[in-house]
Amino acid sequence: MDILLPLKTNLVSVVMVVLALILLWKIRGKQSSFERLPPGPAPNPLLGNLFQFNIKEAYKYYLELSNRYGSVVTIWLANTPVVIISGYQALKDTMIGLGEEFSGRAIYPLLMKSTYGYGVLSTSGHRWKEMRRFTLMTLKNFGMGRRSIEERVREEAENLVEMFKKSEGSAFSPADMLFNAVNNVICSIVFGHRFELEDPQFKSLLRTVNTYFTVLSSPLGQIYNVFPRLVSLFPGKHHQLFKDLEEAREYCKCEAQARMNTLDPSCPQDFIEAFVLKMKEEKDNPDTEYNFGNLVSIVWNMFSAGTETTSSTIRYALLLMMKHPDVQERVQREIDEVVGQDRWLSVEDRLNLPYTDAVIHEIQRYMDLAPIAIPHKMMCDTEYNGYIIPKTQNCGRTQLALIQRTSWMQAAGFRKMMHLLCLAWASVRVLVKLWLA
Ligand code: HEM
Repeated sequence: MDILLPLKTNLVSVVMVVLALILLWKIRGKQSSFERLPPGPAPNPLLGNLFQFNIKEAYKYYLELSNRYGSVVTIWLANTPVVIISGYQALKDTMIGLGEEFSGRAIYPLLMKSTYGYGVLSTSGHRWKEMRRFTLMTLKNFGMGRRSIEERVREEAENLVEMFKKSEGSAFSPADMLFNAVNNVICSIVFGHRFELEDPQFKSLLRTVNTYFTVLSSPLGQIYNVFPRLVSLFPGKHHQLFKDLEEAREYCKCEAQARMNTLDPSCPQDFIEAFVLKMKEEKDNPDTEYNFGNLVSIVWNMFSAGTETTSSTIRYALLLMMKHPDVQERVQREIDEVVGQDRWLSVEDRLNLPYTDAVIHEIQRYMDLAPIAIPHKMMCDTEYNGYIIPKTQNCGRTQLALIQRTSWMQAAGFRKMMHLLCLAWASVRVLVKLWLA
């Protein structure tokens, strides 16, 4: 008989007890920091509420929960609490009233794979503020001594109209044409020129943006965001995506490096040139945020956040115009009256096109393109509505999913109100014309 057996058995028991105590201590610590979280459905151990979750249409589940628990709800994705904020008032109170506290961006593994924590869309704190300020300012300044964004959009719109004309009245899908056109506007802003559709570099960029969205919106992408290491072990589209992403980043970096020596500092012509100029200005600052990492990631942010959103909105607008020919006719009539047939529309015409403006807003409200926005993260423990929403914890992140319930205006009421507004606006214009005459 093994005389060490009792000792071995006891050792195993001691190790088990110690492990159990550590686990209890961790759970207890976790509970105390999360004990004033908003209410929500009871989570299962380990997986949380993952099984109650509609992975394809998360926002439907969130809506159901907000009807049951109110405008702030907690669910658990594995060991990560996700606080869902919904409805106009709660979103205004948190995103504006407590804007600083709620301004962090939740880091998703797929976002990290494409930006490495640089750029605008996946950053928080100082880096986010600095990169956001620079990006907004640079985009606003386009037009001063260089081609405005409006000119770049018009160039692409002209190409699009020519392509539509080629169909000569027969049925066709505009999806790819719209996607390519929006991509080309972003190329023009970022690289200073548009690409021909056959250009291999353009094709490669298009493929990367396309695959990114396919993976991001698929169950594979959502599971990757919860269990990245595990999903990496399995084959799938994500591996090709990561390769394509690296190639896109490398291309962007080469473009920036090429401009380092050729740049005219008095008048940068595109986004990359504006950024490279700032990099040169700040080259002696050891804490500068103006580096290749941030540049390449902001460029990717623009492609990933701008292409699918804008092209889907235009596609949806075309669909709704086909379904409501009376609205289409009225929009055309207003444009013909105000702008005429001899020139292109410009942003300045918007004030004089209240019906068209209202239709665009209604399309965006109706299609509800990003119902859960891009998740945020708390910057510090924050009290809201009697609950404490905690900052990042060791055991997980507190993420914030935002949903806008469309309770603010019912479609019919909205249309009536826009009709009245249009009438009021038309009367004001007549009065002003009479007064000026
Ligand atoms: C119809 C078109 C668009 C829609 C519906 C849309 C929607 C959104 C939403 C919901 C957010 C999240 C806001 C937040 O979390 O606070 C966002 C962020 C962002 N969008 Fe868009 N977007 C559109 C077009 C664009 C375009 C054309 C670009 C760039 C070329 C762009 C670049 C960005 C960036 C960089 C962010 C991150 C901003 C930040 O973190 O501060 N978006 N967008």
